[in-house]
Amino acid sequence: MIYLDSAATTLHKPPAVARATAWAVGHLASPGRGGHPPAMRAAEAAFACRQAAAELFGVSDPERVVFTSNATHGLNIAIRSLVRPGDRVVISGWEHNAVTRPLHGIGAEVVVARGPLFDRAGQLAAFEDALEGGARAVICNHVSNVFGFILPVEELADLCRGRGIPLILDASQSAGCLPVRQDRLGAEYIAMPGHKGLYGPQGTGLLLCGGHPEPLLEGGTGSASALQSMPDFLPDRLEAGTHNMPGIAGLLAGLRYVRTRGTQAIFRRERGLIRGAARALARLPGVQVFSAADPAAQAGVLSFRLEGRDCEAVGEVLGSRGIAVRAGLHCAPAAHQSAGTLETGTIRVSVSDFNTPSDIDKLVRAVSGLTGA
Ligand code: ALA
Repeated sequence: MIYLDSAATTLHKPPAVARATAWAVGHLASPGRGGHPPAMRAAEAAFACRQAAAELFGVSDPERVVFTSNATHGLNIAIRSLVRPGDRVVISGWEHNAVTRPLHGIGAEVVVARGPLFDRAGQLAAFEDALEGGARAVICNHVSNVFGFILPVEELADLCRGRGIPLILDASQSAGCLPVRQDRLGAEYIAMPGHKGLYGPQGTGLLLCGGHPEPLLEGGTGSASALQSMPDFLPDRLEAGTHNMPGIAGLLAGLRYVRTRGTQAIFRRERGLIRGAARALARLPGVQVFSAADPAAQAGVLSFRLEGRDCEAVGEVLGSRGIAVRAGLHCAPAAHQSAGTLETGTIRVSVSDFNTPSDIDKLVRAVSGLTGA
């Protein structure tokens, strides 16, 4: 199987991740739930994971790195901590349902700052316009999960800081391959999955907290147990119930891999593969490729369509021929609306540090077979 669906989850992980996860099952109990060695080992592993993430993402206090079960979970905490019914919230035109559905559920007034695909300056100008009316919060995807468009989040963070508006960053597709630094961005919250570019197991995620979050879940924390309200300190305030220690141990191994390999090296590899795929696919008749002219505007995700062919059907055929891609709307109808692909969806190719040029050659040959070229 040629796996090209890393924007959904990375499948090929560094071997240390599986080893750490399996070891944790038999050796780590619950952090904060006892003074015995398995509980203490769990507490040490959890802290080591927070510390590794704090170093990678520029968080001054590791206790402000909160474990979540995925990026959606972190985004829900961030959004529900800041936004109340009727609040005006400015979002980009590239957001995932993990952002738009909670906003819809709360009943916020959502203002979409829509700019053209791969136009970073246009996106920033759209934010500037939208912010003229003020906002309770700004929410922005760092990299579109559909098109790989890298949004100008550093400049947006400056805008938000200048206006005193909290920024929530969705780093689902950028954590592990682009610089994501809370100290530089000053974002109130940064949410990310553990299972994509950080190479941890599914069921892991991180929320970097600059603000004063409200818990989404309430329950036991192993701390301040006589109180009937959640502790007011992090990370306990947001971490009710037993931790996913196998996931956290695996995530720590993934973070160590990213640190050793370097985000820049990972990004160069992924971008090289995607640009190669874009060039080769664009040469095929009847294939429409969505790729950026400016290499600074696209990460390791690429969308394309085949003239006259249903995208989901093409995705299924590719899957049956041993090539895993994701087709359809990718849980991001807003992004497809912005790009004009809402009616058809797209076929999406997304890579990780474990893909090779030969994977891209095989994809291109398979697509070429479908076009009759
Ligand atoms: N949001 C993930 C994707 O793009 C799951 O596939």
